[in-house]
Amino acid sequence: MSIAFIDLAAQQRRIRDRIDAAIGRVLDHGGYVMGPEVREFEARLAEFGQAKLALSCGNGTDAIALPLMAWGIGAGDAVFCPSFTFAATPEVVPWVEATPVFVDILPDTFNLDPAKLEAAILAVKAEGKLKPAVVIAVDLFGQPADYPALRAICDRYGLKLISDSAQGFGCTLNGKHPLHWADVTTTSFFPAKPLGCYGDGGAVLTNDAALWDLMDSYRVHGKAVAQDLVGRTFEHETKYLNARIGMNSRLDTIQAAVLIEKLAIFSEEIALRQVVADRYADGLKGKVLATPGVIDGGVSVWAQYVIEHADRDGLAAHLKTQGVPTAVYYPVPMHVQAPYAHFPRGAGGLPVTEAKAGTVLALPMHPYMDEATQAQIIAAVRGFNG
Ligand SMILES: Cc1ncc(COP(=O)(O)O)c(C=O)c1O
Repeated sequence: MSIAFIDLAAQQRRIRDRIDAAIGRVLDHGGYVMGPEVREFEARLAEFGQAKLALSCGNGTDAIALPLMAWGIGAGDAVFCPSFTFAATPEVVPWVEATPVFVDILPDTFNLDPAKLEAAILAVKAEGKLKPAVVIAVDLFGQPADYPALRAICDRYGLKLISDSAQGFGCTLNGKHPLHWADVTTTSFFPAKPLGCYGDGGAVLTNDAALWDLMDSYRVHGKAVAQDLVGRTFEHETKYLNARIGMNSRLDTIQAAVLIEKLAIFSEEIALRQVVADRYADGLKGKVLATPGVIDGGVSVWAQYVIEHADRDGLAAHLKTQGVPTAVYYPVPMHVQAPYAHFPRGAGGLPVTEAKAGTVLALPMHPYMDEATQAQIIAAVRGFNG
């Protein structure tokens, strides 16, 4: 049997009956958009992520855009983010006419380098053209960014902090979810994510009820929400009173129903992912340039298991001959992608990001990988003579 890079079918076999029943309930009640499962899932998700509130939306990209819109981030604002990430992280910044400023990463965790972030903020302030407004930290490959350090910097310069946890949702640092430090945590339920649905979906977690309300407005065409109705009455549906220009970004009820079932087994799956990661670390010791380092006190959800090798492309080609699928996240960093190349970069450029783009290789990773399959993968990596 061929080796799966991410085996979604194994999980589906485990909970198929529950998923069928959950979808069946939605078909029975017919509330396909904003049905009862959406609110139920939001409540459960908030509880899981140690948040007061969660707002579901159409995907993990809109989840980053929604707080930017609600905070009124716009032209003249600088939004600091890594370049070693998926396009969605910087993409939403020009949507609101703000400017992404790319910052380099730490070599061991692939996450934002706090010292370089602070230098970038100071450089933007000194130049005086843009106002530092927001930091988007990414929990790349599943592990938390250095939130205590990032929060301290954001507080020092008055910036908002977004945790883009599309890959890392469920990760913790010293037992706390990223929202302990961030103003919002955003995530994606794209099927391959650690907590994925069967289509597109996303969410924003926050402890700020007024912000939740505003984001609720933006996700439904700028509909009037409580704060818009102070001192006035409106007898019709509030979605027909438009207080601002928003968008349409709702989580389908069927996806919420699927996610309720998947969230119920998510903690167990995170533990299973750790078992797989530990087996890789043991089996690959000394053979590859590096197995992943995790921040002290951090628990990764291992969205990806990324090793580094000086001859990355040679190793990938060798593994292919052995029937082992791999992937490269990310071969071209965002700051050198054509549509993003004109945006500013932190002082000193992004040498770590550029070096990593040439060495990283993701191996198959999912909670249901059996020992025999993993031994086969490890043997294939060890058999590479590059
Ligand atoms: C770091 C990161 N941010 C944001 C997203 C966007 O999520 P979505 O594909 O649900 O829009 C993704 C994944 O695709 C991601 O990996």
